[in-house]
Amino acid sequence: MSLRTRTDLPSKTASLRRRIPITRVPQPSQDRMRSTWRQAKPARIAKALEVSQAQNSGGWFVAGASGDVGRTTSVTRTIAGREVVLWRNRTGGLVAGPGACPHLGALLDKCSVVDGTLYCRWHGLALDEQGDRSWSPYRAFDDGVLLWVGLPVPGEPATPRPALPARTSLDQSVFAVMTELGVCEPQDVIANRLDPWHGAWFHPYSFSHLTVDDNASDDKTLTVDVTFRLSRTWGVPVRAEFSCPDARTIVMRITEGEGVGSVVETHATPLGTDERGQPLTMVTEATIAHSGRPGFAIARWMAPLLRPSIRKTARRLWVDDLLYAERRYELRARGEFPSP
Ligand code: FES
Ligand SMILES: [Fe+2]
Repeated sequence: MSLRTRTDLPSKTASLRRRIPITRVPQPSQDRMRSTWRQAKPARIAKALEVSQAQNSGGWFVAGASGDVGRTTSVTRTIAGREVVLWRNRTGGLVAGPGACPHLGALLDKCSVVDGTLYCRWHGLALDEQGDRSWSPYRAFDDGVLLWVGLPVPGEPATPRPALPARTSLDQSVFAVMTELGVCEPQDVIANRLDPWHGAWFHPYSFSHLTVDDNASDDKTLTVDVTFRLSRTWGVPVRAEFSCPDARTIVMRITEGEGVGSVVETHATPLGTDERGQPLTMVTEATIAHSGRPGFAIARWMAPLLRPSIRKTARRLWVDDLLYAERRYELRARGEFPSP
């Protein structure tokens, strides 16, 4: 079943729809849905993944949400197997560096930060963003929504900034960040999103009437028509594009319908391995919602109230999508993943 295009709609309905974004789109039961496995060709997904993985991420990794690091206390994370400490300098800019104190190796977590200087909890050694001979900072960037750390990574020539996807201005948007941990590698997270064909089958609570427009898609961009479910009767039909600005990021951008310019950025950060030696990957998803409707000003004003529900929706999807990504990793590790 395909979406009615906007031009199919009678003009009165179209005018109503301009004012009210939701549409009566009853959700089909699964026995009435078209299977998508013939379109979700393993070779096609593998090729798109290969193209995405060939991009240079410049050693940049998402380390969390901008709000995770305040002005008075340091935070540590393990990223790509390295302990990393994060804090803020005198002007609020992000500082990052090795997470072990250069004196006796204390973990620099929850240390006091005064005027941009971090004081180690064990013996008070002071570190600032300049570093010294015993401690050199990493590249660090706060894009207003997410925190990034630039680490030396073989095969990834360092770049001064992460490859940020275009966003509408943050003061015109409502944004929320969700994180979820999976036993898999970043490529399994990206591969999940490069298979949009699973959307209506695997997430019927969120999507229906999903079709990939092959005429507007290639190895770098997937164009999808989909209805976001509000209930079994009502939905919001949109057109969206998926693309990968770097090897560990996939972005969905609404290009037609309600919320044009809204983006959902999914970032996959390898953390290290668990006690069984399996890879752990943190999924950080930033939803940056925008709408040109006058009523959206109220939504921006209500952002603190809306964030929990945006996070809840994203988390529900990722609980399922991580099952997909973890299964993909498990099959790859066993050498049983279907080769195209
Ligand atoms: S371990 Fe940090 S000051 Fe001694
Ligand atoms: Fe999914």
